[in-house]
Amino acid sequence: MKTIQVKLGERSYPIYVESGLLNKIPSILSDQNDGQRWIIISQYNLMELLGFELQADLKNAGFDCDFITLPVGEAAKSLNEFSRVISQMIEMRCDRSTTILALGGGVVGDVAGFVASSFMRGIEYYQIPTTLLAMVDSSIGGKTGINITEGKNLVGSIYQPLGVLVDPVILDSLPQEEVIAGLGEVIKYGAIRDAHFLNNISSWLNNIDSFPFEKAVMRSCAIKAEIVSLDEREGGLRRLLNFGHTIGHAIEAHLGYGKIRHGEAVALGMKCAGWVSEQLGILKNDENQLLSDIINKLTLPILPFMDPNTILSFVKKDKKIRSGVLHFVVLDELGKGNTCDTVPDEMIMNSLKAIQ
Ligand code: GLY
Repeated sequence: MKTIQVKLGERSYPIYVESGLLNKIPSILSDQNDGQRWIIISQYNLMELLGFELQADLKNAGFDCDFITLPVGEAAKSLNEFSRVISQMIEMRCDRSTTILALGGGVVGDVAGFVASSFMRGIEYYQIPTTLLAMVDSSIGGKTGINITEGKNLVGSIYQPLGVLVDPVILDSLPQEEVIAGLGEVIKYGAIRDAHFLNNISSWLNNIDSFPFEKAVMRSCAIKAEIVSLDEREGGLRRLLNFGHTIGHAIEAHLGYGKIRHGEAVALGMKCAGWVSEQLGILKNDENQLLSDIINKLTLPILPFMDPNTILSFVKKDKKIRSGVLHFVVLDELGKGNTCDTVPDEMIMNSLKAIQ
């Protein structure tokens, strides 16, 4: 089985990527089964699609496996839901030996990971991502969290899973727009770390029906694993993963959450960040054009007018600003991300020209 290692000393863990892997989960996890309770945390629709079969397979293999569902969407990332899941786990007689299986996209992974990090001061968990975005990004690196009224992910932890189990076949059951949106994050990895991969993505995008998802997921996971291994707590290198996210998040906030997919907003944010990189005299014009052409191969939504001042005000509220400094991710060249701490406000506002 193809395995990528996240190297964090004694907290190191494997990412398994293989088509059809879902059916092999009982055998992959058999060494870890000491008779404890296993709880699948998911959503009801995902339980119907994948989870009930997984639970049955695990039970047949001798696992004491139950499940808890979360509501669909960001509503799941609330203190109420968090506390409901904890109470349900107590009712289910879970204890410190219980292992959580987070089956879902980013929202499920974030909540289940946070529950794992805090239930009885921390229990073990695995990520089983079911969206492209979760497969290549949110399931790896241990970021967990929930939202409060004041903002998204303001309560959370960095708490690494015991493993990430990725089955790219799941992508076949998702709406194509969902998958295409997730490709924004795949492009990001090529843009910040691997020009050759970016070139491959560009040719693969010429025929989306034959897009080699397993290959693209593998390379993306390997880049994320490498970055997290070098900078788990986002002191420097890990910031590069925010390429396209600063303006992307501002676009999401300006349009209203749920109005645009996260991956789509990131793709648009990358066009703006490419434009900024060129304006700063760092990225060559032809390279920025190439990046823009690749992103244009995704079918992205037509945006309504967005007020540059509002976008800037959301950028200023970005929780990634540290000690008043915005570490804006730019490209030195394709395949080589960097940060710039002195991007003028005007330039951020003007970068919307790249997408409107
Ligand atoms: N999604 C960005 C990170 O994991 O750092």
